[in-house]
Amino acid sequence: MNKRFYVTTPIYYVNDIPHIGHAYTTIAADILARYHRLIGYDVFFLTGTDEHGQKVEKAAAEKGRSPKEHADMLVENFKAIWNRLNITNDAFIRTTDINHVKTVQGILQMLWDKGEIEKRSYAGWYCMPDERFWTEKDLVDGNCPDCGRAVEHIREENYFFIMSKYQQSLISHIEKNPTFILPETRRNEVLGFLKNNVLGDLCISRPKQRLAWGIPIPFDDSFVTYVWFDALVNYFSATRYLAPGAEMARRGDFWWPAQHHIVGKDILTTHAVYWSAMLMALNFPLPDNIFAHGWWTIEGRKMSKSIGNVVDPNAIADRYGVDAFRYFLFRDVPFGHDGDFSEDALVHRINTDLANDLGNLLSRFITMTEKYFSGSIEKTVPYGRLDSAFTRQCVASFTAAHRRDAWSRLQFHSILDHIWDMVRAANNHIAQTEPWKLAKHEPARLKEVMFDLWNTLRLTALSLYPFIPLTAEKIWKQLGLKSLAEEAGNSGAGNSDLPQIFDIEWTPVYVLQTSKGAQLFPRIEKEKKMNRETDATIEAPGLEKEETNLISLKDFARAELRIGKVVSAERVKKSEKLLCLQVDTGTMRQIVAGIGKTYAPENLIGRKIVVVTNLQPAKLMGIESQGMLLAATGADGVPVILMPEKDVEAGARIK
Ligand code: ME8
Repeated sequence: MNKRFYVTTPIYYVNDIPHIGHAYTTIAADILARYHRLIGYDVFFLTGTDEHGQKVEKAAAEKGRSPKEHADMLVENFKAIWNRLNITNDAFIRTTDINHVKTVQGILQMLWDKGEIEKRSYAGWYCMPDERFWTEKDLVDGNCPDCGRAVEHIREENYFFIMSKYQQSLISHIEKNPTFILPETRRNEVLGFLKNNVLGDLCISRPKQRLAWGIPIPFDDSFVTYVWFDALVNYFSATRYLAPGAEMARRGDFWWPAQHHIVGKDILTTHAVYWSAMLMALNFPLPDNIFAHGWWTIEGRKMSKSIGNVVDPNAIADRYGVDAFRYFLFRDVPFGHDGDFSEDALVHRINTDLANDLGNLLSRFITMTEKYFSGSIEKTVPYGRLDSAFTRQCVASFTAAHRRDAWSRLQFHSILDHIWDMVRAANNHIAQTEPWKLAKHEPARLKEVMFDLWNTLRLTALSLYPFIPLTAEKIWKQLGLKSLAEEAGNSGAGNSDLPQIFDIEWTPVYVLQTSKGAQLFPRIEKEKKMNRETDATIEAPGLEKEETNLISLKDFARAELRIGKVVSAERVKKSEKLLCLQVDTGTMRQIVAGIGKTYAPENLIGRKIVVVTNLQPAKLMGIESQGMLLAATGADGVPVILMPEKDVEAGARIK
């Protein structure tokens, strides 16, 4: 029987529109799921939606729908985005699933029968949007400490899970299991919290007259279950009706416990404390690990609907491709740290790592095999022979990228570093061995070099598969192989505890035929980002290009260029680069330009500049730009604004 691997994401509030934050957690779980399938585990990867509670009830009422109808519509947003991002979840749980409801009720009944739940009268400060009580001392300026909104004082009878009695057991579990909570900083935070505070009990019911949309408490139907209690149970209930292996389940052999619950740092306490205490009270094993990752901000600011900077993964995938997005999220920021998203950083990664390092490596390799050997690659054993510094380095990097410890601690960032060491080593190897010279005088050596490069690319594709699966498969095919995931599945046990396909010397046949495919990652030119981008005004699209991109006079004449006079100029808040100019081009217009690093706003007032006046307006950091000023980019990358040589009146047409 194969080893089992069970990984979960949070179940997201069905009301939300999926954004980069949700995508981040789910892609992380997908990376783990794909990796474990590749190395021969049976995997159960679970995601889903959290559908009960006040917010859904309220939003549904506003739309004149029942809460279930409302959830049925919204859940499709999540299913669609997971499909788009190539997420390979094995199941999708909804807390409105009847089997989940029954499991929650069964668990509540067990805890009630065991005396782990009590009914008490309770008074506290209730935050309606967050659906939770706070004590007086928790409040910040009289408001909810979490969301800052007003709280209501409420007195009512409720059911309480006696969580307080697990305080000591929680501390010792965390202390005895150093990887139970990761990263370590988060583990220390939870331990500090448990050691320095008195753990309270958890109110797990809501009176029906206040909230009807929830799972009825089985032993008192005037109450429904608190949404977090209901939600946390999903990880367990899914193993009862959604996990693979019905036959196994009939024998009482279930998928519980999970190996990893991946969550954002915002919900670590509910997982590490509430959920763990619930499991202890039930006498169920605890998950092996809860990993709390960091938080994404967007260009330095909190993501929020009111700011209008919520990053839609669909839009990013449309513009840059799914794999580039997946890669960026795990390459730029160590998993566990907070990160700041910007299209600049994304484009930089695409151009340097994916287009330059990886894409060029593959295309140079394929071009050379075609040129020198009509695409055929002959195995010259042994790869990794000790006299080759190159193959030794690749073997070391490959081995490091597959260290058990790195994977069980979710060190995606360092895994990608090791993979990139291989890619860079291969590029260097080409530069050093100069195959074009070997082709003239040393054909036998050329064969070896090409085989070593082939094998390095194979090991790279294999290692990259969990992160950028579509690209890894493309590389695999260009190398003359068939299907990476399938071949891994069919590959028996290898020398280490990894499947054979991971063996350094593995090749399916002695001679392979490479086949050229499309470029993996075309370079992104800056103009592609124009609509959101801060730099849109710096490089006039097309003007830099030489004969390769000729346009007709008629095409050029479609652009309306006029002289503008800068009437006022100021910096855009929170941006180093952007200036907002009011410009007279015959009519007044506002232009947002990325020249703030080089030009002080006060020095621009009264100056004459060249403006493209018939561009569609674009928003830069939420501010509308009605045109673009022209600037040249000097060799040092610094923008230089074009200005007329003699004074010309504002509004004059440039032809
Ligand atoms: O909390 N950066 O659901 P939710 C990184 N239903 N990750 C982010 C993020 C950001 N800016 N914003 C959101 C809930 N996330 C509950 C969970 S589980 C039993 C119940 C991710 O829709 C991150 O994983 O508010 C965070 O923990 C999760 O979305 C919160 O999703």
